Amino acid sequence: MSLAAEDFRYISDLVHRHSAIVLEPGKEYLVESRLTPVLRDEGSGSIAHLVQRLQSRREPTLTTKVVEAMTTNETSWFRDQHPFDLFAGHLLDTLQSTRNAERSIDVWCAAASTGQEPYSLAMLLQDWLLAHPGWRGRIVATDLDEQVLTRARTGRYSQLEVNRGLPVQRLVRHFSRAGTEWELDEGLRRMVEFRQLNLATPFPPTTGTYDVVFCRNVLIYFDLATKRAILGRLKQVLRPGGFLVLGGAETTLNIDEDFERVQIERATCYRVRSGKARS
Ligand SMILES: C[S@@+](CC[C@H](N)C(=O)[O-])C[C@H]1O[C@@H](n2cnc3c(N)ncnc32)[C@H](O)[C@@H]1O
Repeated sequence: MSLAAEDFRYISDLVHRHSAIVLEPGKEYLVESRLTPVLRDEGSGSIAHLVQRLQSRREPTLTTKVVEAMTTNETSWFRDQHPFDLFAGHLLDTLQSTRNAERSIDVWCAAASTGQEPYSLAMLLQDWLLAHPGWRGRIVATDLDEQVLTRARTGRYSQLEVNRGLPVQRLVRHFSRAGTEWELDEGLRRMVEFRQLNLATPFPPTTGTYDVVFCRNVLIYFDLATKRAILGRLKQVLRPGGFLVLGGAETTLNIDEDFERVQIERATCYRVRSGKARS
């Protein structure tokens, strides 16, 4: 299969319009490999044919399918470990004083993929809540991609998936066998509410406000203007004293100076500088 330059341009524009993901020249191989299953599924013989169908604008579900095929959903349990040590070992205890009047902790996992990240947080939050009677906690988990959200909601994972970062004690404690898969217990599933949300467009009024936002390994796909706009919106939903956690290759530095970087042991997080809080 060879991808014509104008078809690559059409696909990258379409993906950018719908997700803000940047596909620069040189990523033709990625478009070809990600769209191969879509072509098969759709009975389209080539990307050129698929582009013709997309241009006719008569198939909105095809657009969604192409955009979702181009998202990178790589994730694992307790990915990179340090942000989770930070959450359990520092952020929750700090929030105990700032949120003492409400006694509730709200967490947003803003690029949740197939659920490993929000469910890892749910395990830690559940442990903390058990040690702090009278407190409540919940996690909202969002992603652009409905397909990964549908999977995440099932709470079911393959052996290969649970092998990626999930400590065996957690597997035994929180999962039961479901055929060839592992199913997460209902208590943890109920702590996480999955919703579709595009970070690149204004957040809906139902978004809510949060004490901790995990927005990891997604800003890397966007251009500077999009990163800046997203950080600006995240600032609006962070409660005073709240924390933003980004991926290891992501930062607010030189993008939004209203955030200050906080280094705690081997982990980094960000807070809105005092006086720069929500307007
Ligand atoms: C590499 S995964 C990161 C998953 C998880 N945060 C982690 O670090 O393991 C990136 C996720 O961002 C989602 N994504 C891409 N563009 C998005 C957008 N515009 N709005 C919301 N989510 C988006 C993708 O669908 C994908 O599931």
